[in-house]
Amino acid sequence: MTHYTFPKHFFWGSATSGPQSEGRFPDDGKGDNTWDYWFQQEPHRFHNGIGPDKTSQLYKHFREDIQLLKATGHNSFRTSIQWSRLFPKGTGEVNPEAVAFYNNYIDELLANNIEPFINLYHFDLPMALQEKGGWLNRDAVLAFEHYAKTCFELFGDRVRYWFTQNEPIVPVEYGYLYQGHYPCEVNLNHAIQVGFHSALASSLAIKAYREGKHDGQIGIILNLTPSYPRDPSNPKDVKAAQIADAFFNRSFLDVSVKGHFPKDLVKIIKALNMIPDYQPKDLAIIQQHTVDLLGINYYQPRRIKAKETPLPTNPHIPMPDDYFDYYDMPNKKINPYRGWEIYEKGIYDILINLRDHYGNIPCFIAENGMGVENENRYRNEAGYINDQYRIDFYKDHLRYVHQAITEGANCLGYHVWAGLDCWSWLNSYKNRYGLIEVDLSQNAQRRMKQSGLFFKQLSTQNGFSD
Ligand code: BG6
Repeated sequence: MTHYTFPKHFFWGSATSGPQSEGRFPDDGKGDNTWDYWFQQEPHRFHNGIGPDKTSQLYKHFREDIQLLKATGHNSFRTSIQWSRLFPKGTGEVNPEAVAFYNNYIDELLANNIEPFINLYHFDLPMALQEKGGWLNRDAVLAFEHYAKTCFELFGDRVRYWFTQNEPIVPVEYGYLYQGHYPCEVNLNHAIQVGFHSALASSLAIKAYREGKHDGQIGIILNLTPSYPRDPSNPKDVKAAQIADAFFNRSFLDVSVKGHFPKDLVKIIKALNMIPDYQPKDLAIIQQHTVDLLGINYYQPRRIKAKETPLPTNPHIPMPDDYFDYYDMPNKKINPYRGWEIYEKGIYDILINLRDHYGNIPCFIAENGMGVENENRYRNEAGYINDQYRIDFYKDHLRYVHQAITEGANCLGYHVWAGLDCWSWLNSYKNRYGLIEVDLSQNAQRRMKQSGLFFKQLSTQNGFSD
């Protein structure tokens, strides 16, 4: 039997976000964000027509939910403040209902010995700012700085772990290249400008946090998807994988940890004549305000081969994948519901890369999980979902996390996605991730899953054996 014991004070918990869990209520004073607007315009795009107004209704259930988080062994928990809840117009007047709600939520977590990890931006731009150009407009950066500062002032006396953004590359990719987020453009030039402004916004928030002399740490949460070349001995595949890595990982990783953009990415952007608009002081701000702590979301790797498919003929909109092709590796393990490859060793490779090339920055696994459709079929006689596949998924990844720690990686915790089943953007409630079921057919009733019991044991024992 092997025992996997994790370091003392390891963070065991889960993550969600405001827009995916809270829901909207008539008296809550929340303003529209891009998801609210998009759902009003095109509800058919959202799986089963369930939109951001419903979600898991945590706004009303948070006390009960926190008891469930406690029962599943959480010592820490991440959510995000909804910008459009605190500032219904993105800036201007603060919504007092939001302040009361987040105060009660944070206090309830602390009263139950659950450390709140609070993120500021999880894909949810207030619509009033989107109407003025969104992240393309430098005003959004300044509005974000003000929003961040306000959050630190309101809640920074109790919240010790702050994060500026979750997966900032995702709104860039899906909002401006691959059409999965509003405004659904296909425009690399805009993607680069939005990426730059997001990076600057994060740095300005870090600057504000440090200037406010708050007692805590501030970081960012990045989805790191290691880029593996089809054939590691083929220089063309290796080069292609490095370019994909520059676009999708190092773009925000280098900025956040090292304070500069990756040289190879800048070279490509220069050659395309797409250097974003910026002010001379911006680069110094970015350089001087790097993160204390890095959250890592890991779900899948990226398999890459040298470009084989021809580029479309003119007019051609430049895309990152002009420089590489995706490689469909035979016999890979897959989560069929999400279509994502499951490659457990990827989590180890990320941690070792951070150890060796990013100064072994303190980090933690901020999301890891498995979305499964129709979990009802796994309900046992007692009425609980027996999600052994999720338990196996966690253990298979945790063995590698443990190995990386043994080899010196500075990993401080493991958060799963998600504590409670939550709303997944366009996928709505198609795939469930939770340790705790949310039964939409029964007035959002909550029920522990088998994985919730496992997680409690994992946290209590600070590890597992097998
Ligand atoms: C992460 C996000 O990318 O993955 C979450 O931070 C998201 O917001 C999660 O819900 C799972 O992905 P999906 O697309 O299945 O919801």
